[in-house]
Amino acid sequence: MKVTIVGAGAVGASCAEYIALKNFCSEVVLIDIKDGFAEGKSMDLMQTASLNNFDTRIIGTTNDYSYSKDSRVAVITSGIPRKPGMTREELIGINASIVKKVTENLLKYSPNCIIIVVSNPMDTMTYLLHKEFKINKNKVIGMGGALDSARFKYRLSEALNCPASDVEGLVIGAHSDVGMIPLDRIATYKGVSVRELLSVDSLKNLVNETKVGGATLTGLLGTSAWYAPGAAVSSIVQSIICNQHKLFTCSAYLNGEYSLSNLCIGVPVIIGSNGIEKIINLELDHTEKKLLLNSAEAVLSTNKLLDTINL
Ligand code: 2OP
Repeated sequence: MKVTIVGAGAVGASCAEYIALKNFCSEVVLIDIKDGFAEGKSMDLMQTASLNNFDTRIIGTTNDYSYSKDSRVAVITSGIPRKPGMTREELIGINASIVKKVTENLLKYSPNCIIIVVSNPMDTMTYLLHKEFKINKNKVIGMGGALDSARFKYRLSEALNCPASDVEGLVIGAHSDVGMIPLDRIATYKGVSVRELLSVDSLKNLVNETKVGGATLTGLLGTSAWYAPGAAVSSIVQSIICNQHKLFTCSAYLNGEYSLSNLCIGVPVIIGSNGIEKIINLELDHTEKKLLLNSAEAVLSTNKLLDTINL
């Protein structure tokens, strides 16, 4: 099976590395527009093969999409990352035309591939693919909630002083500093509600820390994060390639679910060989429903900006 990753920057290269380390697919193609960059990243990664015992072949190319022919999955990480103090939404002007062009190139060689969108503002970039291309809605997946849920579990594990793998937590809503909704009501530590284990204030703080998790790292790093985004994407890719039916929150096109339509936003979905196999309609409480509605309204207004851009 072949997976193509467009954008050999930190997120794309980390994703390629995690896919190789998990050794579940035969070929990863890394594409970048910067001359020699993808070739260099893939060669460096391949030189770890004998050390890290993986068989995956990682091939880099400077903008030659013919290498991506017959990809099962394609990941779009290209575009500019945010700088400290920027919101993800501010990237729309530059990233929208990049994402559209990249998608055209991918579909030319792999018309049936499943596409995972990482580029920000991710919910709107995911919607862009539905708006501009005729792709089955289950084959367009926005990666944001899987990352946000991992950050939520990290914050919970720190507060509970326990392994993050013992914690369950979901973040729904927009992949944005204000629109994210960490669902502390249903988060658990080995099945025990975290509301029984942590104070209201502690939960409030870690919910807020989760929402600005990306911005916090951008402030520390001077650019957006890459290890956790790369790991989140590689987990979704693995669930597709290995048909694992794992549950993630991903930006999915809604057509009435959660009383929302004609937008992509983070909801719980089952991911398998056909991409989004099922959208899970969680029973939200009144507060969560209101937060999701507000989050959706913000995404819809960002989506409207697409009409003002000469794509
Ligand atoms: C993040 O939150 C890049 O949007 C991504 O780190």
